[in-house]
Formats: sequence, structure tokens, C-alpha cells
Amino acid sequence: MDDQAAKATSLGPLKSLEEWDDFVKDRYTAADSLSAPDTGNTNKKKEEFRNHDADARACVKEFYRLNHTYQTRDFVLQKKKEFLPRGRMTMGVWEAMQYLNQLVDDSDPDTDLSQIEHLLQTAEAARRDGRPRWFVLTALIHDLGKILCLWGEPQWAVVGDTFPVGCAWSPKIVFHEFFQANPDSRVPDFETRLGIYEERCGLDKVDLSWGHDEYIYHVAKDHLPEEAHYMLRYHSFYPAHREGEYTYLMNDHDREMFSWVREFSQYDLYSKSSQRPDAERLRPYYEDLIGEYFPAKIAW
Ligand SMILES: [Fe+2]
Ligand SMILES: [Fe+2]
Repeated sequence: MDDQAAKATSLGPLKSLEEWDDFVKDRYTAADSLSAPDTGNTNKKKEEFRNHDADARACVKEFYRLNHTYQTRDFVLQKKKEFLPRGRMTMGVWEAMQYLNQLVDDSDPDTDLSQIEHLLQTAEAARRDGRPRWFVLTALIHDLGKILCLWGEPQWAVVGDTFPVGCAWSPKIVFHEFFQANPDSRVPDFETRLGIYEERCGLDKVDLSWGHDEYIYHVAKDHLPEEAHYMLRYHSFYPAHREGEYTYLMNDHDREMFSWVREFSQYDLYSKSSQRPDAERLRPYYEDLIGEYFPAKIAW
């Protein structure tokens, strides 16, 4: 592990960002056992994704405590100002995947996938299902926003189920009790159902908690179709796309487009397999696909 990667993993309670992803999978596995698509994953049955020990649980709980305590509306606006102008780095999409792959962690290297492997497995599962090329590409890049961790951002500001800030937190958000410590809980304007928003104002007008979804959406939006925007921007918005919450902030177009978020989520959750994809073998196919939509270099 180099210094930068070491620094990244030291900034949070999780041993790896995957601990959060795995926790989400666990939570939704039972509900999905009859409805998930065949993602070609023959190594693990869905029930077998439940493999957490008490340690991992404690880390995850602490992760959510930090996330729910510090993701205030002010924090989100400040991070948007800081990161959305971009320009920290200029690199191609495959290069960004390699850059993200520095994000190694303390967990078991025999069972845990690298970041690039998760991206390739998700994309390959979509490709096997005959999804359109833009969909496969969106699957390939969906977690590239996790490079925020490599720039010193703590885990709780990079991953985690996202939720609107500036209005009441849905009771269905996991570990809801930790919001008691969030300073926004003492802002009366934020504590009503609509808070600072208008009924059905459309999600584009709503600020969600800050993380890798919003960031990669901004990086990629000029190059991909609108369905992909939704898949990137809301893939961690589990309170909406899995729990059906916050529909009162969505307009009709959001409701329609959320079918794409749900379609994508199946691949994100269930493509994980212990069969490691061969990145170098797959690279020519994906370099071609990337080149169809993206210029050689983009601003990060
Ligand atoms: Fe993600
Ligand atoms: Fe993912």
C-alpha cells in the first residue's frame, strides 16, 4: 500500500469501502431472492452474501453514525463548491479506473474484489444480459466517484445510502437514530416533510447527501444519455429506489426514469462473484466502448 492509499483507508471506520456496499447487499438480499436477474454469478447464492462478523457490523454502524452526524445541508453545499468545478486531474476513463484501484484496504485480499474488479463485474453482467452499450459503460464507471477518497475525503463523505438534506429524514433510512446528532435536526425549516423544497419539485432541485454518486454524475453527464444520469446520480439513493420514500419530491419524469435506477441496482448488488475478471483481457473491449462516448481525457 502506498502512502496515498494508506491515508485513504485511515480516514474512516471501515476497513474498506466495500464493507458499506456489502452491508447494503445484505439488507436487500432477502427481499430480492426471487426477483433478481441472472447475473451469471454461479459462485455464490444470494444468501451467501451474508457473511459479516460482529467486527464488520461495528465498523459499519460507526460509519453510519459519522455519515448521519456530519452530512448537513451546509456540508453538502460546501462539497459541491469544492469538487464540482473539477480540474484536480485530467485523465481518461480507464486511467481513472486504474487510479481508483490504488484504493486498497485492510480486508482479506483473497475474498475482496479490487475496485476495478467490481466495476468490470458489474459491466460484464450488464453486457451478458444484452443491455445497450451506454448501459454497460455506465455500469463500468458507476463507482469512479470513489476517487474522492484518494483526495483525502473521509469514507462517510464518499459512500453511504444517500438522502435529501434540507427536509425531514425518512424513518426508513438505515440507522435513522443517528440523525439526532446532526445539527440540521435543530433547524426547524429543515424538519418538515417538504423542508425547503416544494411538492414534486423534481430531484434536480434537491440536494442529496454528498458522495461518489453526485460527483461521477457531474463528471460523466455531458457524455452519456439521460437514463445514465439517473443511474449514476441516484444509485445509492436506496431510501427512494428501494424503500419508495421521497416520491413527493419527484416529478413525473423522475418517477419514470427511476425504473433505470432500479434496473441498474440489480447489477450493482448482485454481480459480485469470486471469479475475478481478467482486466487486461477485457481492456480492449472497454477501451473501445469508452472511446465511443468519452474523449481521451476528461477533467476530474
Ligand atoms: Fe456506488
Ligand atoms: Fe458499485
